[in-house]
Amino acid sequence: MCGIVGAVSQRNIVPILIEGLKRLEYRGYDSCGVAVHQSGELKRARSTSRVAELNTAVDEDGIAAGTGIAHTRWATHGAPAVHNAHPHFSHGPGAEANSASAGRIALVHNGIIENHEELRAELKAKGYAFTSQTDTEVIAHLVEHLYSGDLLDAVQAALPRLKGAYAIAVFCRDEPHRVIAAREGSPLVLGVGEGENFVASDAMALAGVTDQIVYLEEGDVVDLQLGRYWISRLHAESGRFEAQQREVKTVHAHSGAAELGPYRHYMQKEIFEQPTAIANTLEAISSISPELFGDGAYRIFKEVDSVLILACGTSYYAGSTAKYWLESIAKIPTSVEIASEYRYRDSVPNPRTLVVTISQSGETADTLAALKHARAQGMEHTLTVCNVSTSAMVRECKLAYITRAGAEIGVASTKAFTTQLVGLFLLTLALAQTRGHLGDEQEAEHLKALRHLPVAVQAVLALEPQVIAWSEEFARKENALFLGRGLHYPIALEGALKLKEISYIHAEAYPAGELKHGPLALVTAEMPVVTVAPNDALLEKLKSNMQEVRARGGQLFVFADADTAIESEAGLHVIRMPEHYGALSPILHVIPLQLLAYHTACARGTDVDKPRNLAKSVTVE
Ligand code: AGP
Repeated sequence: MCGIVGAVSQRNIVPILIEGLKRLEYRGYDSCGVAVHQSGELKRARSTSRVAELNTAVDEDGIAAGTGIAHTRWATHGAPAVHNAHPHFSHGPGAEANSASAGRIALVHNGIIENHEELRAELKAKGYAFTSQTDTEVIAHLVEHLYSGDLLDAVQAALPRLKGAYAIAVFCRDEPHRVIAAREGSPLVLGVGEGENFVASDAMALAGVTDQIVYLEEGDVVDLQLGRYWISRLHAESGRFEAQQREVKTVHAHSGAAELGPYRHYMQKEIFEQPTAIANTLEAISSISPELFGDGAYRIFKEVDSVLILACGTSYYAGSTAKYWLESIAKIPTSVEIASEYRYRDSVPNPRTLVVTISQSGETADTLAALKHARAQGMEHTLTVCNVSTSAMVRECKLAYITRAGAEIGVASTKAFTTQLVGLFLLTLALAQTRGHLGDEQEAEHLKALRHLPVAVQAVLALEPQVIAWSEEFARKENALFLGRGLHYPIALEGALKLKEISYIHAEAYPAGELKHGPLALVTAEMPVVTVAPNDALLEKLKSNMQEVRARGGQLFVFADADTAIESEAGLHVIRMPEHYGALSPILHVIPLQLLAYHTACARGTDVDKPRNLAKSVTVE
């Protein structure tokens, strides 16, 4: 998704801007650009290729300077095209061309400006010419329109006119050593250097440049100059921008740059990293206690009478799996909501609910907004299961469990999902303990199963050659159905999501018992039906559902636990899972589904790590 890097320095900052963009690259983007203040004018290069190509263009054009901004764009308003790529320039009213080396204001933007049409009409009437379809260009023109010698004043005057979510960075031809940045609804950090200052949408972009980071808060505006920075925000009562003090934190942000090693794609590497990621996530756990989730967790866990899980995509499916655990083991009523729905829905708030957000990135706009919505309704007991300790989600929640999956580069989430499940299982056990539903013996048994998980996952990964054999056939299909029951239904949903997002095969998942209520009509010999078949209490019911498919000539592809007595025959293909894993079985069963999606996508030749239209971190609504 969109990324921002900006800098004010005495040295040439273009290599820092380019490196910063490279560190944000894995999040997904479709164009990129850089603009600098060079020899008294604005210069820029933009590209719809990779940042590496942008770097070549920058070198060829001799772009080098001490003040500049850069951006990776994930298209929302306007197609992925050079003229829509950021930075956007404003030349002032009446100017005709948007040439590469003219303009007074240069601006980059993450987020969405909801009232851009109204502003566009207003600015057009004032004589501003638009060269893109973006909502961003209106901000550049608005700042230009309000500029009368002081960029900070112009930005502060422009911000109250914007509706929506944004993080922006802007500089002006007439003020060579200054960048103004602001945030409202999209993340932004300030990086403090010696005699130089930086801004970025993620501290990771500044790794190796500075570890002195200020996490800007909603409404913050920062004025970056060479040896100083100044943060302000609009004061509701005075109606003026007033100075703000923010803590400078030492942040050892990882670079996000991971070597591929022997793997073809990051996704494959990340699938195979799961034993280590799970082991790392469990590393410090010697016993179950609420304090695993932070200070004060015991008091909160004692107080709550229900759980509300908020998340998107794969993280939502982790939450959907956890619901089964929370209700059956901890006996606590649990609801799971898609964040983008919950935030706009009339619901009945319960201040005694534990609000749990789940997010790999910790920056997902919908999940952050849902959390905010829950809090605004008086639900103050908040906890996140998150993979990024420095993220907004962790900062916004009272309690946290940080999964230790390591940086996940592939857009399709794999190791983040299985480590989220581990974190959520620990949460289940901690709540069960607090509520008197976990004896010492059960705790010991669960801990033993958790500790053995990395080995069990390794054994499942050894099924890869069998999955590859199936993937050849899947690659020729355009549709697939996934079935599961009970706590493996969310795993079927996750399997279908994985397949559709990277292979572009249309895939749907159903609870197997629901088949006869509609989706059975889709079943023909052309329809592969993937079935998640653990040896649990629902196995016999599931077998009946499989018969319904067989009777209609459907092709079953079954991941069956070792002792299920489901044997391969015509129209029924079986891959046998090494062992049945009780409550933690979903963590094993999702792995062959990840492999199936991965190898099917490889066979179809898609861009596995950067699937079309998708971004790693979805920081817009
Ligand atoms: C998963 O493969 C996805 N790419 C996507 O559904 C993702 O899980 C979702 O956008 C939520 O992201 P988060 O975990 O970073 O909040």
